Amino acid sequence: MSIKKIVTAVLLVLLSVSLVACSNSAKSTKTDSSLSDVQKRGTLVVATSPDFAPFEFKRLVNGRDTVAGVDVELSKEIAKELHVKIHFLTVSFTNVLGSVAIGKADYGISGISVTEDRKNSFEFTEPYFESKNVVVIRKADLAKYTSVDSFAGKSVSAQKGTIQEGVLADQIPKASAVSLTQNSEGVNELKSGKIQGIVMESAIAQGYINSNKDLTLAKITLKKVDGSSYAIALPKGSIALRNKLNSIITRLKKEGKIDDYVEKANQESEAGK
Ligand code: ARG
Repeated sequence: MSIKKIVTAVLLVLLSVSLVACSNSAKSTKTDSSLSDVQKRGTLVVATSPDFAPFEFKRLVNGRDTVAGVDVELSKEIAKELHVKIHFLTVSFTNVLGSVAIGKADYGISGISVTEDRKNSFEFTEPYFESKNVVVIRKADLAKYTSVDSFAGKSVSAQKGTIQEGVLADQIPKASAVSLTQNSEGVNELKSGKIQGIVMESAIAQGYINSNKDLTLAKITLKKVDGSSYAIALPKGSIALRNKLNSIITRLKKEGKIDDYVEKANQESEAGK
């Protein structure tokens, strides 16, 4: 092969490599401005449902309603690292997912369980917490509800839009399922005897049990389900922002910060009761 031919071949290879590189970067900047949008706006918009201590709850600070909890601390740390302000959209749990899906929020954080099904509609970060499902009952009924079958014909609630609705339907199928917008409504109905149990996650159940001495956990072990860890949900395609969040979450986990947030949030939410 002549020198000329070799040079031409090398040039052709270089040209095609750079063309591919160009089109790749053009694609990523055109279709994903999730991170740069936040930076340009200077504010991170976060959807959350503050009815889920210790992850998110309302707290009065100097007479003003604020949101507090693990997810709030985590989000503040994220905003700090991005050098932007933060705005919390406080909505019901179903609307957390809804507002992320339509891009009204940069992300949703609300103790959201990652499931295969939700992965079809959202981008998820790395998980930051592991959860498990339990059934809260009245202490007086401890000897009565000792198996899932013992709830046959009884009313058991789960929060609307959560995976606990599925846990209830699949694992306690003989109960009559009640969907409530908030777990606190379930707690009131349980205490007054209108319902006999509530399916919720153990970290949340513990808070209710600590402040309601008439409530306890049923001695039943529910099976582990798809959705045993919490992560942040972003609109489909928000890859750049998700990658940034992943690096922050990885660092905070390594530094043991998530455990610190849980401890602080438990203290704050207990103090507020
Ligand atoms: N982990 C459950 C789910 O994703 C419940 C989350 C409820 N969160 C809330 N802030 N109320 O389905």
